[in-house]
Amino acid sequence: MSRKILAALGSVVLALSMAACSGDGAGGGGNDSDKPGDLTIGVSMPTQTSERWIADGNSVKEKLEAKGYKVDLQYAGDDIPTQSQQVDQMITRGADVLIIAAIDGTALSGQLQAAADAKIPVIAYDRLIRDSPNVDFYVSFDNFKVGVAQATALLVGLGLQTKDGGKGEATGPFNIELFAGSLDDNNAHFFFNGAMETLKPFLDAGTLKVKSGQTKIDQVAILRWQQEGAQKRMEDLLTSSYNDGSKVAGVLSPYDGLSRGIITALQNAGYRGDMPVVTGQDAEIASVKLINDGVQSSTIFKDTRLLAEQAVVAGESFLQDKTPQANDTETYNNGVKVVPSYLLPVQTVFKDDIKSVLIDSGYFTAEEVAAGQAKG
Ligand code: BGC
Repeated sequence: MSRKILAALGSVVLALSMAACSGDGAGGGGNDSDKPGDLTIGVSMPTQTSERWIADGNSVKEKLEAKGYKVDLQYAGDDIPTQSQQVDQMITRGADVLIIAAIDGTALSGQLQAAADAKIPVIAYDRLIRDSPNVDFYVSFDNFKVGVAQATALLVGLGLQTKDGGKGEATGPFNIELFAGSLDDNNAHFFFNGAMETLKPFLDAGTLKVKSGQTKIDQVAILRWQQEGAQKRMEDLLTSSYNDGSKVAGVLSPYDGLSRGIITALQNAGYRGDMPVVTGQDAEIASVKLINDGVQSSTIFKDTRLLAEQAVVAGESFLQDKTPQANDTETYNNGVKVVPSYLLPVQTVFKDDIKSVLIDSGYFTAEEVAAGQAKG
């Protein structure tokens, strides 16, 4: 691959050779092996059990292919050795850039070293890859703000706060329970920290009470973000802490899949019209229907189309030997270095927002929302 050879030759030769090219467009033209059709982008996604990752994978692939690049898209079935192996294969098959959404943010150091040795730039997609100097760029959403938005949605749902940030009419006290995502996902910590900072004044004042007493992330985390894990933990909480006739009023849930597990546990225990305020994330279609039906209270919408676009922009920059443009160079320290990042904003969706945020933007149709199923 001429790109890699150029990279190895150093910046002076590179600058000269770039100057000799026409300069615009992928690969700069002029050299056959710089044509998009000769360049392959390896895209490693964690799982197909959550529809957001399917949407992410499809969007990245479509956008890259529309520009003429070859795409090697793999899903790892939430299995760490499978993901390591898939990334290894992408490297040996000659990927020119890697875009990786890691299952375990600390498990890919070996692969990233191999990528660095082969001069393959690595973009961490939505989930930061930790403990490696070989992460070149990070595209994600503002994950701390996701947590703030989730906790704020819980406060609004309970009536303690208004949507515009004012004081709500409710006074509490309310029993709540907390959930977090998978501890090996860097994002889980950002979500939880953002949420806890927002809830702290209410917990300190006694307006909110975590009846189980489980307030530490390692007590409330759900391995691999699994719906069944959340359902089981909610069942255990109901048995251990709510067998005295007391009720749960709110549940902080960081992901729609977990929210559905939590809701199932609550429904099995007899909650109906008194369903607690349950938050979420990702605007998964099954949960958007639950929100539309008044069962789940809210979700956080992360437009995967925009994230995919940013990954493509960053990938193309690397292919043109440019530095992708970051909008955050402070927040994401992966344990070895601060990784330059491009962070996108998020939107909270309550029932009233489904039309304006999800339907009018073309993310879902009204029919899909009513059916709780995306046509794909
Ligand atoms: C993503 C979330 C997603 C979660 C579970 C996180 O890394 O940022 O959007 O809900 O993984 O898939």
